[in-house]
Amino acid sequence: MELRELRIEYRQDPVGLDVNRPRFSWKLVSAERNVLQTAYHIVVTTAGKTVWDTGKRESDASVFIEYEGMELTAHSLYHVHVEAWDNKGNHASVEGCFETGLLKGTNFTANWITHDFPDEETACPVFFKEFQVEKGIEKVRVYATALGVYEIKINGEKVGDTFFAPGWTNYNKRLQYQTYQADGLLQAENKIEMTVGNGWYKGILGFTCTPNHYGDRVAALAEIHVTYTDGTAEIIKTDDSWKVTTGSIRSSEIYMGETIDSTFTDAKVKDVVPGSFDKERLIAQENEPVRITERIPAKQLITTPKGEKVIDFGQNLTGFVKVKVRGEAGQTIIIRHAETLDKDGNFYPDTLRQAISVDTFICNGEEQTFLPHFTFHGFRYISIEGLDEINLENVIACVLHTDMEPTGTFISSNPLVNQLQSNIQWSQRGNFLDIPTDCPQRDERLGWTGDAQVFAGTAAFNYNVAPFFMKWLRDLASEQTEQFGVPHVVPNILGDQDGAAAWSDAAVIIPWVIYETYGDIRALEEQYESMKGWIDYITARCGSNGLWQTGFQYGDWLALDKEESADRTGATDVYLVANAYYAYSTNLVSKAATILNKQEDIEKYSKLYRSIKKAFNEEYTTATGRMVSETQTACVLALHFDLAEEPHRERIMTSLETNISRHKNHLSTGFVGTPYLCHALTENNRHDLAGTIFLKEDYPSWLYAVKKGATTIWERWNSILPNGDFDTSGMNSLNHYAYGSIGEWMYRKLAGIQQLEPGYKKMFIKPQFIKGITSVAATYQSVYGEIKTAWSCQNKRINVEVEIPANTTAILYLPEKEEPIELGSGRYQYEYETTTVLETGRFSIDSTLKEILDEPLAVQLLNQHAPGLTEHPMIEFAYNLSVSEVLAQAPESGDLFKSVIDALNNAGKK
Ligand code: BGC
Repeated sequence: MELRELRIEYRQDPVGLDVNRPRFSWKLVSAERNVLQTAYHIVVTTAGKTVWDTGKRESDASVFIEYEGMELTAHSLYHVHVEAWDNKGNHASVEGCFETGLLKGTNFTANWITHDFPDEETACPVFFKEFQVEKGIEKVRVYATALGVYEIKINGEKVGDTFFAPGWTNYNKRLQYQTYQADGLLQAENKIEMTVGNGWYKGILGFTCTPNHYGDRVAALAEIHVTYTDGTAEIIKTDDSWKVTTGSIRSSEIYMGETIDSTFTDAKVKDVVPGSFDKERLIAQENEPVRITERIPAKQLITTPKGEKVIDFGQNLTGFVKVKVRGEAGQTIIIRHAETLDKDGNFYPDTLRQAISVDTFICNGEEQTFLPHFTFHGFRYISIEGLDEINLENVIACVLHTDMEPTGTFISSNPLVNQLQSNIQWSQRGNFLDIPTDCPQRDERLGWTGDAQVFAGTAAFNYNVAPFFMKWLRDLASEQTEQFGVPHVVPNILGDQDGAAAWSDAAVIIPWVIYETYGDIRALEEQYESMKGWIDYITARCGSNGLWQTGFQYGDWLALDKEESADRTGATDVYLVANAYYAYSTNLVSKAATILNKQEDIEKYSKLYRSIKKAFNEEYTTATGRMVSETQTACVLALHFDLAEEPHRERIMTSLETNISRHKNHLSTGFVGTPYLCHALTENNRHDLAGTIFLKEDYPSWLYAVKKGATTIWERWNSILPNGDFDTSGMNSLNHYAYGSIGEWMYRKLAGIQQLEPGYKKMFIKPQFIKGITSVAATYQSVYGEIKTAWSCQNKRINVEVEIPANTTAILYLPEKEEPIELGSGRYQYEYETTTVLETGRFSIDSTLKEILDEPLAVQLLNQHAPGLTEHPMIEFAYNLSVSEVLAQAPESGDLFKSVIDALNNAGKK
């Protein structure tokens, strides 16, 4: 047995950690089966002194063990030694360390500095100071932040490899500072420069493209702690001894792009002006920083029919382009960005709306590499002007996003599904840029709560999203008020608006996802008031029937079941959606109260939940169990949120199936119904139908977009129409992850990885087949270690492989076997016979009745089991209907047609 990956607050060897009671997690790795931890021993030391020693504790806990030692001090390095024992008589150890930051914002001794350039000045200010170092250096740390976004250079070299520091938070209450290890950058004579762009603080943002959302002047705060080898220390900090100038970055805006003029020399040097910002609001960086995580070479140079010179990177992504050139002094290179070409092959930047996203580089005559600093774009294509000859090797797309740890993989026998998985991951990467954004390209890029909420479950499979979401949830809580509830975007730059269902429910649902995924109870503890606050907000707005039926709602946003209209809310009653979420979230709050042992609240919220559920049924289901709004989404919510009364479930399920077959087995759901549609079907014995909808390749469906060449998830099912035209509603992003929420169903229901206990301490492995996919392999890196499932069903044999991490257990449901198997950790393989054929046959319920009746075998079987049917005088009127449409009228014939189709497909094989 080995111990690996000692994590401290999810990170390995974090630097600049300002958590007073950090939590330690480690993974046991063993080749043996049924391994469980029996005891652990943690020792924490600093400067040779022990500050915490747990002694040997009999326990199977190996994640989130909270530090209970002496109070941590700022700017200090702590070593952590963990030893653990297992039930097989082995023991092992692992080492790690963490370094505290300043622990409190008020420990900053530096002063804020700003400038007094005229308002028209667009160039980014560069604050700088020169200083000498005379002694031998042991360690250098830089603590810095800005109002704006900043980059620090010491002696011309960038400090750190991150972008967009200090990140976007609710600056009115919270501003992150960063800690950098800058050892090795100082010499005897030094120059430190800090360039500050407008960023989210002062820059242009929102639909209105207006600046100054938080303030009209950028500012900087930094201190460099130099520890000398002789034991002494010195702090160089921002104060009135610094100067300010402007440099080559002549303008930079997130939406608009950046202009770099490398010929610019005319800089004035001025004294800095004192800035002000409450240091109480400073906090250490909470999420992983934004980095360039991949560099993508240019794939192809295209001259479009309009004559534009366009480069294709083959992937829609978020980031910017780096160009190496040797231009004439003054030569200007202009780069524009677009997600797609239009159907004639011309550059099509319209999905960017007003975010013009133009980077301009002015050459100085030498060989130069240009890349912007304080802007990012959503693009697959760029158009380049100003270069006579384009050498593709010199043009590279840099992919930027929060540097989350990848945790999930999913691969299947179906290449279109694999492309869908890739598209989901790319949309997550493209939109997890410091905050969860709706889209990375147009004049929005805002932290829409609804989008994040519906996607959180999928996101948590693909990447470790705990630090990322926890930072954002703290902002969410900081923006929440009794009067307006939870805002629609966080950080909230749209102003006060009443909370809306499914959007504001992010306050409850995302902490719950974090708790379930990682077993992180502190996530619930920290967010508990916010979770409750959202429920109490709704309760205060309910009518005498106990339901929330007032105010603005997004409903089932962008659903296809309503004629396109200005409100885009779909056909499902918006208050049905609102009350379904009200019930669902209230139930989660009552569960959270139970976990946190809040006695009064357990009582209060569980009672409230029961009463909402009752009122929901009184209002939205008839006495005999029909939903008043029989849309796919209404039925799905009633079933999946467990709101339907037991005796009514079957009828609601029938309504759902009927609705689906009227849509020729296609979905018609929007943001709210889509994440749950396939789950609801699988959980109610129609996994086959979930599979049919999932594998549809024509509009509307997930694979329709894939077949249209999508490399990210589109905002709309009809972002690009079958004839190649674009949706022209003015809201048409090609990189919007909401519909990527199907990913969770792929991991949970196809690969079959589900938690039974938070953090996957105990799990449920239940792979389920669908026709059209003959094999699936998935991995998920849980906090305990890697979980793997792989299955195939081919040539009449089923093969299942699973891997369960040490210190966890599983219940395995093998496909087509009745009895579950209890498993301890280890690798297992099963192989057995089957008659199931998953390859898709020639016939399906999408075949027309005519196609079926043209087959003598079908006629023979139908005559045998439903005498008279094929001779019915009206039957020819149904010839052009698909079987699924016929079944919508005659659901009782479902089994018969299914067996006929199977028989036809099997006959075709022989
Ligand atoms: C955003 C969404 C968001 C929606 C809410 C759109 O403009 O892009 O994804 O949730 O507005 O209305």
